[in-house]
Amino acid sequence: MRTDFTVNRDALEARLGKKRAEHVMGAAKTAAELARRYGVDADKAERAALLHDWFRGASLSELDALIDVYGLDHSLKGDANLSHGPVAAAFMERELGVTDAELLDAVRYHTTGRAGMSELEKILYAADAAEPSRDYDGVSELRETAEKDLNAACRAALENTLRRLSEKGRTPDPASLRALEWFNGLNN
Ligand SMILES: [Fe+2]
Ligand SMILES: [Fe+2]
Repeated sequence: MRTDFTVNRDALEARLGKKRAEHVMGAAKTAAELARRYGVDADKAERAALLHDWFRGASLSELDALIDVYGLDHSLKGDANLSHGPVAAAFMERELGVTDAELLDAVRYHTTGRAGMSELEKILYAADAAEPSRDYDGVSELRETAEKDLNAACRAALENTLRRLSEKGRTPDPASLRALEWFNGLNN
């Protein structure tokens, strides 16, 4: 892995602006806490969180160009919300030399979730939704749930997302629907 690439608050603010940098720093802290709570590698969780939104502020044309450069699925084109995770994962793998598949998957699927998420994927998904700078209806309940039951927290975060999408009249990604179905089928 490249060692000359440092992601800290300054680098995040320069790239993403103050508000998004605050979100990412919060997600990294929450991800590390949840990882320790659930026996997952906290360093890995923090690294995944620090880079998960590295392309959140990129223009659609930049993201679409990187989809070509990295040979990603063309169906991601035209939707920054869907493509910023897969592009970040490809960037980490190709440009930073990250080889840990679990870490890359956590970043890749952080927007939609998916059926069969690993513990690390769940941790980033929950941390992204519950970090301290998030402010929306239900976020305090989500924070409490995340401390007790990681699957229930992911389920609640997915439900929140799907509700917000439906309120805006937007179609959810099929991966999110399959993820919710999968969480609903778990025995806890
Ligand atoms: Fe994101
Ligand atoms: Fe995020």
